[in-house]
Parts: sequence; structure tokens; C-alpha cells
Amino acid sequence: MRSLDIISAVAAAAVFCAASSLAQAAGAPDLKLGTPVSAADIAAIDIDISTSDGVGLPPGKGTVADGAKIYAEKCVECHGEKAAGGSMYGSMVGGVGSFLTDKRKLTPGSMYPYAPILFDYIRRAMPMTAPQSLTNEEVYALSAYILNLNGLVPDGGSLDAKTMAAIEMPNRNGFIVDDRPDAKAVRCMKDCPPIKD
Ligand code: HEC
Repeated sequence: MRSLDIISAVAAAAVFCAASSLAQAAGAPDLKLGTPVSAADIAAIDIDISTSDGVGLPPGKGTVADGAKIYAEKCVECHGEKAAGGSMYGSMVGGVGSFLTDKRKLTPGSMYPYAPILFDYIRRAMPMTAPQSLTNEEVYALSAYILNLNGLVPDGGSLDAKTMAAIEMPNRNGFIVDDRPDAKAVRCMKDCPPIKD
């Protein structure tokens, strides 16, 4: 489980870096080295979600139908009609089951082990030119729409924190669990035992 969380965190961080080089997140405090940071400053950027169980998903709800409308306004130029691929990125639809073959097709439907990863990704990094400008309701709606296109949310369906965390993603058990000893390291910040070779 731990390694899956790490994989998704790394994926999200990579996108965030790519996205943040284009535009600063809307609403993010303008923090500078040496200035004190308030709890409110931290709260504004503390948007982590535990993707395996959805803890940290915010309140709110969004429908597939609303997602389709927002998508047409804010996403289609780069991702194409029905997320089938556009000017900036390939298809975000299909490929379910392809991870078991040597012709993998990476989409949120085929790859992500947990649905809340999609919420985290969109909220953190999309649209690429204005990351973190969407409301939580818009992010739920867009997630519902993309998962609907992948056959994982029914037509006329919607998503909230509870229903999103409950989706059984097809590739949930498709990752190799990293059980090397250093993946089991116990965090220590004080009076730590000496490091063994
Ligand atoms: C200006 C172009 C642009 C716009 C607009 C845009 N995206 Fe993206 N999006 C990208 C690019 C480029 C990537 C790939 C980033 C990477 O791999 O680092 C991406 C990646 C993604 C992914 C990850 C796909 C995967 O297969 O894992 C999702 C989900 C996504 N975008 C959703 C959205 C949504 C929803 C919107 C509208 C709110 C949106 N994007 C608007 C350019 C854009």
C-alpha cells in the first residue's frame, strides 16, 4: 500500500512541478524565504489526500453532466473531444486491462489504482494554464465525467468523497509492491539509532 501511495505522490508531484512552472496556483499564498508562515497560509496549500482510502477528500459533489460542460470549457483544447486526445496530451480514455499485456495504454481508467488520485491530480495541476483555479465541486464533476468516459461511473451519475473512494479501480492490484528493506524504514527525527550498513 505504502509504495502505491508513493507512486501516486510522485506522479502528482511531477505534474505539479510541470504545471507550476507555467502558472502559480490560484489562491496560493505568496510565501518567501525568511517570512513567518501562518497556519492559514499552510491550510491554503495543505491539500493532500490519502488516495487509498480517500481521507482528506473535501466536501462537495459533482455530476457527470456538469463535468461534461466544464470539460468543454476548460479542458477540451488540450485533451480533445471526450478526452480521446488533443493538442497537448493523448487519450485519457480506455486501455482497461492493457496493463496485463505488453501494449499498455496509460489512462486514469487503466492505470490509477485508486480513484481519489484523479481528484488530487486535477485539483492540484489542471487546467495546466491555471492550476488550483477549480472549485471542489468542479473537480468532482470533472472526475465523474472522465471516469464515466472510462466506464467507471454511470451516465447520470455523480461523485462525492464517499462514492469516489468506493470505486473499485480495475488496476488496483496491478502494481508490484516494493518490499525492499529501505521501503520499510521507520521515520526518526530525534535520538535516532545509528544507521546500520
Ligand atoms: C494547456 C493544456 C491543458 C489544459 C487546458 C488541461 N490540461 Fe490536463 N494535461 C495537460 C498535459 C500536458 C498533461 C500531461 C502532464 C504530464 O504528464 O506531466 C495533462 C494531464 C492531465 C491528466 C493526467 C492524465 C493521465 O493519463 O494520468 C488529467 C487527469 C488531466 N490532465 C485533466 C485535465 C482536466 C480535467 C482539465 C480541465 C480542467 C485539463 N486537464 C486541462 C494539458 C492540459
